[in-house]
Amino acid sequence: MRAFAITRTLALFLATGVGAAAQEHALHAALPSAGPAMSEGKTFTEAGGEALYAQVCAACHQAGGEGAVGAASYPPLRHNQKLASAGYPVTVLLYGLRGMPPLGRMMSDTQVADVVNYVRTHFDNPYGDAVAPEDVKAARP
Ligand code: HEC
Repeated sequence: MRAFAITRTLALFLATGVGAAAQEHALHAALPSAGPAMSEGKTFTEAGGEALYAQVCAACHQAGGEGAVGAASYPPLRHNQKLASAGYPVTVLLYGLRGMPPLGRMMSDTQVADVVNYVRTHFDNPYGDAVAPEDVKAARP
């Protein structure tokens, strides 16, 4: 009880203006029973679109975004006109799409925005209108 009150106060305090990273930290600290962090299997710890892509997306969509056909079909993200609308990849990440797990639920708003902005500006995709973490937050289930 007491510990809960303290973490709650801390989270409220942090939510009032310290940086997003500190907030996330407080959030993780405030949810000790939610399970281990993803370095141990729960949330992704990579920062930045490039690192997230390499660690999370490339396993299925391949390092160059070319996609793959094997046991399942992984669509190319390279030169993919469906990425023209920023909301589309955000929605796929947050809600999943058939064989694509909703991996964005294991990421912070910033991480989702970063990896979406990364794929929309790499692999021959020219879409420079960046997604902000607030957009991701608003789109969450
Ligand atoms: C476990 C494998 C897997 C991982 C990891 C994965 N994806 Fe996917 N992704 C898929 C599959 C399968 C589909 C196709 C779903 C369908 O249409 O049935 C897909 C579809 C998509 C689409 C829609 C493409 C289109 O043309 O409609 C986007 C965008 C996408 N993924 C982005 C990402 C991003 C960004 C990451 C990394 C954060 C990622 N995916 C990680 C398997 C994966």
